[in-house]
Amino acid sequence: MKIGILSSGGDCPGINATIRGVGKTAIMHYGMEVIGIHSGFVGLLNKDIQSFDERTILGTSREKPFRKLLASGESEKPQVILQNYEELGLDCLVCIGGNGTQKTAGMLSELGLNVIGVPKTIDNDVWGTDITFGFDTAVNIATDAIDRLHSTASSHKRVMVVEVMGHHAGWIALYAGMAGGADVILLPELGYDMDKVNETILERAQRGKPYSIVVVAEGVSTPDKKRPSDYITRTIEAATGIESRDTVLGYIQRGGNPSPFDRNLATRLGGHATELIANRQFGRMVCMKGNEVDSIALSEVAGKLKLVTPDHDLIIQGERMGISFGK
Ligand code: F6P
Repeated sequence: MKIGILSSGGDCPGINATIRGVGKTAIMHYGMEVIGIHSGFVGLLNKDIQSFDERTILGTSREKPFRKLLASGESEKPQVILQNYEELGLDCLVCIGGNGTQKTAGMLSELGLNVIGVPKTIDNDVWGTDITFGFDTAVNIATDAIDRLHSTASSHKRVMVVEVMGHHAGWIALYAGMAGGADVILLPELGYDMDKVNETILERAQRGKPYSIVVVAEGVSTPDKKRPSDYITRTIEAATGIESRDTVLGYIQRGGNPSPFDRNLATRLGGHATELIANRQFGRMVCMKGNEVDSIALSEVAGKLKLVTPDHDLIIQGERMGISFGK
């Protein structure tokens, strides 16, 4: 069999381990031929490919070949992809990516391509899998940053607001906030009451702790529709009179070396993706169910988001410990 691999959407720690897992398993265990497709779906549109070897670097892009089609019914891109897939003689396309990529993978599967999805995102919001690789690394980086911000918070008696990524989901904020000992954690899924946030900070000051750490997910909405950390920091300072500062962690959260956990998760998912191909079980995304690797139909994944629910155990335990979730 001849398979193509592409990675689409944002860069994410663990993609290389996935490519290694798919590529080496395919070549060494199943005797398949593997080609790398550069820059996500752009590479498939332009036939920007290379034979897979030890030095292959694929890159990524946020190209969504169905976007214009959905908006106006005019895009020719899916047909170009179909034609290039045929001309390259591919038997299967492996799509590593987040929600948008899995949706595109599902649509290509409906067009008749043999497709396997591998979920990837630091946001941990792909429906149908308990965890995505990249998340653990991002949580480690964000937790380390929160640990470091405690120094300034306590020595200057400040409120330190730290904004973490996660798109519409609060997974990174919840896990890093709890691990880093935040006093307030704000998630897009829960909403928040600014008076309650200010109350928590003032109560701490009255108890002799005139410093606080507030972790806010980037997806939290604010009246000015701008970066939430900016609005929350200004509002806390105005309401409490305590000097407040904000830090936006940004792309640092998805760069550098993946954690060993993410490397091993990505390696397992890549290996199992190749097994699905060998068994001709196409139109599926590999996923984690607990500690076991499983798979789910791409049609079930498309268009859904896995969000934090209010009954998450970390929220329940956090509330019992006096951590405010802005309610
Ligand atoms: O999906 C990963 C992510 O880092 C989100 O957390 C963030 O909202 C988004 O990508 C940023 O996208 P871009 O790389 O296009 O700026």
